[in-house]
Amino acid sequence: MRLPKRQLAVLEAASATDKRTIDDLATETDLKPETVTGAAFDLRDAGLVSVTETTTETADLTAEGRQYVEEALPEVRLYRAARERGATDDSVPMGQAIGSADLDGHEVDIALANFSRKGFGSIDAGELSIDPDAEPDADPEAAALAALAGDRDADDDRTTIDDDVRDRLASRGLIEVIERTTRAVTLTDAGVDALMKGVEAAETVGALTPELLASGEWRDVEFAEYDVEADAPTVTGGRKHVLRATADRVKDVLVGMGFKEMEGPHADADFWINDCLFMPQDHPARTHWDRFGLDVDPMAEIPEALLERVEAAHREGVGPDGDGYHSPWSETFAREIALRGHTTSLSMRYLSGYAGAELEPPQRYFSVEKVYRNDTLDPTHLLEFFQIEGWVMAEDLSVRDLMGTFEEFYRQFGITDIRFKPHYNPYTEPSFELFGEHPETGEEIEIGNSGVFREEVTKPLGIDCDVMAWGLALERLAMLTTGAEDIRDLHGTLADIEFLRNAEVSY
Ligand code: PHE
Repeated sequence: MRLPKRQLAVLEAASATDKRTIDDLATETDLKPETVTGAAFDLRDAGLVSVTETTTETADLTAEGRQYVEEALPEVRLYRAARERGATDDSVPMGQAIGSADLDGHEVDIALANFSRKGFGSIDAGELSIDPDAEPDADPEAAALAALAGDRDADDDRTTIDDDVRDRLASRGLIEVIERTTRAVTLTDAGVDALMKGVEAAETVGALTPELLASGEWRDVEFAEYDVEADAPTVTGGRKHVLRATADRVKDVLVGMGFKEMEGPHADADFWINDCLFMPQDHPARTHWDRFGLDVDPMAEIPEALLERVEAAHREGVGPDGDGYHSPWSETFAREIALRGHTTSLSMRYLSGYAGAELEPPQRYFSVEKVYRNDTLDPTHLLEFFQIEGWVMAEDLSVRDLMGTFEEFYRQFGITDIRFKPHYNPYTEPSFELFGEHPETGEEIEIGNSGVFREEVTKPLGIDCDVMAWGLALERLAMLTTGAEDIRDLHGTLADIEFLRNAEVSY
């Protein structure tokens, strides 16, 4: 026969003597009493033991009960006082008897009620007389109290007390009766028999399986207890990517600031990416070193008139004092398709009116889109990243407008200490780079580039008011708001999944 380990331990311990109590068995098996109880009931259900229950009552003196053990019961004290005053032959005034019994207010009521009940004497018209045959010194209630006080832990004291006396003491509030159920385990014949034939401990099983159920083996195995304090695997539910959350917030902020969103191709004609921006065709950024060229047909649609104006700007500049680059300009190169290295291509498409933007000033447009650069990966550079592009077209814009816009924008992300550094772009004058302080390293990191478009850009586009514009790095903004120290933690093949799971994004 096989039995779960704990049942076997209880069965063996119970076989030693008759009527082992659960507590005895618990001590012996080194199991918790509740575990022993459970095992005992299982053994009983299997017919191997019988479990008998005995209810025992224990009584403890209350504080008042203890006081009367010291001072005697109030009715006894009243009897003795009256006897001393000679109330055996004649009655004594009640007041005198109470006075010499030294009873307080509460005790007087108790003394009088019990005095008559116990037949110690009688009270009539304020006169108290006692029964000379009464035996207050042998009062069973007093004796029971004394017995309980003498050895309150001995079971005998409680069992020898008469039930009526015990109930009376309890109702007088002099003792407290506590009921306790004790279970004792005795082996049945089947139990003795099983042990003699030999019982083996069943194996412990961690989980119920279909096989255990089908074979009926579940009856014989022991199931491991649940360890409710064991470490549980962390449940990491889906969440929005830090960068997506940042991008969404950026869009909300810019829309809140009155901007409309732009969209356009990731792979675009160099014309939109560079030529419109008065970027000379021999600019280093336009060589294969910095640019992802695409081997596709140069079919980009470019409005003919715009193409001519941009070419003229490159060759001769704009306006009477203008000056061009005086270097070759190739339409073929302008029509080549490349992955955009910035989203300023979108700004050009929109500012040209070609992408359907409204061009009556004032206008504000933005995009939060991916750009591609043939850079070297490092803690602040990725080959693909997101740019927060934007422009404002209005009369008489100044550097203050530009700075004010950035301050308002970054304040929405809790960044209030951006710095500006004069910069050079072929397409803006003046130009500024933006810097923010990294919350963890304290380093100043570049977070954007901006400026006011030059006439060489705006004139060919047919715009004759000011346009201020910028490209801000979304990942750098996320580095400042989340404290990420390496841009590669944020996205790409080296992303830090733990960081992405736990990064706090408060917007
Ligand atoms: N295109 C620039 C960059 O990628 C940003 C910029 C946009 C600067 C518009 C000025 C005006 O760094």
